[in-house]
Amino acid sequence: MKKYDISTPGPIGIFDSGYGGLTILENIRRVLPEYDYIYLGDNARTPYGTRSFDVVYHYTLECVNKLFELGCNLVVLACNTASAKALRSIQQIDLPLIAPERRVLGIIRPTVEILNQYTKTKHVGIFATPGTVQSDSYPIETKKIHPDISLSMEACPMWVPLIENNEHLSAGADYFVEKHVKALLSKDSQIDNIVLGCTHYPILLPTITKFLPKDINVISQGEIVANSLKLYLQNHQEIDVKCTKNGQIEYYTTESIEKFINTASIFLKEKIDAVNITI
Ligand code: DGL
Repeated sequence: MKKYDISTPGPIGIFDSGYGGLTILENIRRVLPEYDYIYLGDNARTPYGTRSFDVVYHYTLECVNKLFELGCNLVVLACNTASAKALRSIQQIDLPLIAPERRVLGIIRPTVEILNQYTKTKHVGIFATPGTVQSDSYPIETKKIHPDISLSMEACPMWVPLIENNEHLSAGADYFVEKHVKALLSKDSQIDNIVLGCTHYPILLPTITKFLPKDINVISQGEIVANSLKLYLQNHQEIDVKCTKNGQIEYYTTESIEKFINTASIFLKEKIDAVNITI
């Protein structure tokens, strides 16, 4: 097994199963523009949200290894499903063996940490992939940090495929969004905030808000994760000095470059280049 040290500074790795992590990356780059980044989308194997624990763990570990190979000393899993199903094992089992000085961070804990700043009723809803919902990671973390907050979750298996296939503005998207909005609200009438617990979902935000009562606030993770990463780098100078700072970004995809460039450019509202990578 290859072992990675931390002697050479490198870009920060941002990983997602597909395009969803771009909604996180956009915010991270706004808050931390001076750093270099490598974005890796495992578009060929997306969605992760309907796959088993073992498969998500295995795929995520392969992608983290690839980002290490590309020189990243710090990797953010900009994917709730991977954070829910793979982060703990990677941190506790794999990192000590393959890269004890490198770091892999998830996005569920930082999201849960700030929930109390939003909710007044202490009733919060979560839209997420079936995998994230089944893992129970959100309720487990919330119970630890804010035991007074009651969570209701709704799994939305069709939302990621709609987004990955650029169908997020279609009538089909309206149907599946309305269905899950109604289902979540019927679980708890006191919900005053809803977390988009999948990094793909901000792409559906205009459709989601169309079907939600105006007094319910929607929380996207981008800004929360970006601020939490900023704080992490301030508090961990030993990692910060191992991150290069030239304001550059590279995109890697496991799918065809053309498909990635076309769709990612719509989400990022800018033209980008990408490199195909085999995992
Ligand atoms: N973007 C991922 C997340 O935040 C899920 C996408 C997928 O199902 O592959 O959960």
